[in-house]
Amino acid sequence: MEVIIRPTEAAAATLVARVIGRELQARPQLVLGLATGRTMEKVYDELAREHREAGLDFSLCRTFNLDEYIGLPVTDSHSYRHYMNAQLFQRVNIDRRNTHLPNGMATDFRAECAHYETEIRDCGGIDLQLLGIGRSGHIGFNEPLSALRSRTREKALTPMTAEQNASMFGGDASKVPRRAITMGVGTILEAHRIIVLVTGVEKADIVAKAVEGPITSMVTASGLQLHPHCTVVVDEAAAGKLKGTEYYRWIFDNEPEWQSFR
Ligand code: F6R
Repeated sequence: MEVIIRPTEAAAATLVARVIGRELQARPQLVLGLATGRTMEKVYDELAREHREAGLDFSLCRTFNLDEYIGLPVTDSHSYRHYMNAQLFQRVNIDRRNTHLPNGMATDFRAECAHYETEIRDCGGIDLQLLGIGRSGHIGFNEPLSALRSRTREKALTPMTAEQNASMFGGDASKVPRRAITMGVGTILEAHRIIVLVTGVEKADIVAKAVEGPITSMVTASGLQLHPHCTVVVDEAAAGKLKGTEYYRWIFDNEPEWQSFR
């Protein structure tokens, strides 16, 4: 794992978008794992801008989202399918048939989850997975005590996550669906490369636990320490509780991998 600190939320999101853009240019058929949430909006704005202004081509790209609420039809403006259409898919030249989210209205959830895993496998696995971290320490909707080897399944959301996501539901946590389908931690860890974006002072505690704390299912993001190619990009605010910042800054300023991003 490596940690990159950027001065602002905008600079952190732009770096993440540039990493995605580079991977897509190098491999037009990229299988991209996608996340939703407030943090990602700036990444999608930036990818849409790169498409518009620099011709970044999504025509062959395939995508798999991490999760979807149970009980919301795709027409519901709170569904993650709706979010993805609005934030990214409608703004770039992606073939909508190449975009995948779990079906939160499935009649047989066990079959739907197994099918989602099969679809990912049939595409050859996820090349690059984009992640955020929730206040509960979750990745996807893998709430505390999710097995670090878990696969795509139904999961109940914690009250903390309902609170976190309430802003998308007019500020009312009781309106946030309490169940979702999510890729498992084990599914996520099989991606070839992972890039995580965490911004804001309210995430400083949890990002320090995830990155520098012990690996524990109580903070499922800590499972990312097991991944061979995982980059965590934070802004200064989210970096506030990290202990190894001097080393992290040195990496970005000196390592050849980051030279063209400086
Ligand atoms: C969403 C997802 C979640 C979010 C996390 C952070 O698809 O997988 O893990 O990335 O809850 O959400 P925000 O960015 O809204 O704080």
